[in-house]
Amino acid sequence: MQINSAYFQSKVLQSAVELGLFDMLAERPATVEAIVSELKIRPRMALDFLDALVGLGLLTRDAGEYGLAAGVGEFLTTSGGHYVGGSIVQHARKHYRLWADLTETLQDLAAEENVLYGTKSFLKVYENHEIVRNLMNHMDTYNGFVGPQLATAIDWSGYQSFVDLGGARGNVAAQLVTAIPHLQGGVYDLPPVEPLFDEHMAKKGTTGRVTFYAGDFTQDELPATDAIIIGHVLHDWTPEYRAKVIARTFEAIRPGGALLVYDAMLDDERVDAPALLQSLNCRVLSRGGGSEYSVAECREWTEAAGFTFDKAVDLETITNDRVVVVRKPA
Ligand SMILES: C[S@@+](CC[C@H](N)C(=O)[O-])C[C@H]1O[C@@H](n2cnc3c(N)ncnc32)[C@H](O)[C@@H]1O
Repeated sequence: MQINSAYFQSKVLQSAVELGLFDMLAERPATVEAIVSELKIRPRMALDFLDALVGLGLLTRDAGEYGLAAGVGEFLTTSGGHYVGGSIVQHARKHYRLWADLTETLQDLAAEENVLYGTKSFLKVYENHEIVRNLMNHMDTYNGFVGPQLATAIDWSGYQSFVDLGGARGNVAAQLVTAIPHLQGGVYDLPPVEPLFDEHMAKKGTTGRVTFYAGDFTQDELPATDAIIIGHVLHDWTPEYRAKVIARTFEAIRPGGALLVYDAMLDDERVDAPALLQSLNCRVLSRGGGSEYSVAECREWTEAAGFTFDKAVDLETITNDRVVVVRKPA
C-alpha cells in the first residue's frame, strides 16, 4: 500500500517547490496564516499540506511556525548549493502527467512502431522558451553531480581538448574546464541550443573556454578532438542509433584518445528497481523509443566501433550514473 500511494509524497514535494514554499521559509519561519496569505493557497487545504511536509522531514513546526528542516535548504531552495528544484518542476509538469497514463501507454499497440526518440523530441521542445528553460534546469540538476567526477574519472594530463556531444548549454563542459584549466572544451548540440549555451557560459564565467559546435551528431561532421563525452544522451535513442553515434565518435577522436559515456546504466541482472524505473521513465517519455542500458551493452557498441574497453566507474550522483571509458588505439 505504501507503493500504491507513494505519489502523494511526490506531489506534496512538487507543489511545495512550484509554490516557492522552501524559498519563502528560507528567509524566515512563518505561521500557517502567513503562508496561506503569501502563497495564496486555500486555508482549508493548507494545514494538512504543511503538516504532511513536516511528517516527511522536509519542514519543522515549532511554536506554531513552519521552517526548513536541517539540510533541506541545500537542495530545495533556489540559492542552495545543490538545488534540485529544476528537475522537480519538470517531473511535476511533464513526467508525472505522462506516467498518469502508463496503463494506456503500455496497451497502445499502435505506438509500438511509432516510437519517439532522439532529435525529434528536442526540436519540438526548443520551440517554447519556457519549456526549454525547465528542461535545461532539469538536465543540469542531474549532470551537476557528474561534471566534477568526470574530472577525476581519467587522467586528463595527456589530453588537450574534449567535446561534449549533446552537451546542452554546457554545464558539464564548464565544470570540466574549470577543474582542469589546460583543457579546451567543446559542446556539440542542435543549433537552437546555442543562445542558451552563450548565456550559461557567461553565468559560469567560462566564455571563450568552451566552443559551441552546432549540428546534428547523427549526420553532420564532428570536430576532431582528444576526447568525446556523451552523457544522458544515448538513453534518448534506440540501440541502433546508439551504435551509429558511437561509431561516428570513433572517426572524430584522435588516435590514443578517449570516449566517456555516462548514463544511469542498468545492472546486468536487471533487479535494481530504481535503475529500472529510471529506464521505464525514458520509455514513458519517448513512447518506448529510449531506455537505459547496461555497461555490457555499452561495451559491445564501443568495441564494435573499434574502441578498447578501459573501465566502468560508478559515479556518486542522484541517479545510478556510471561512466564507461574506452580508448581509441594509438
Ligand atoms: C538529455 S540531454 C543531455 C544533456 C547533457 N549531456 C546532460 O548530461 O545533461 C540530450 C541533449 O542531446 C541534444 N541532442 C539531441 N539530438 C541531437 C542531435 N541529433 N545532434 C546534436 N545534439 C542532439 C539535445 O539538444 C540535448 O541537449
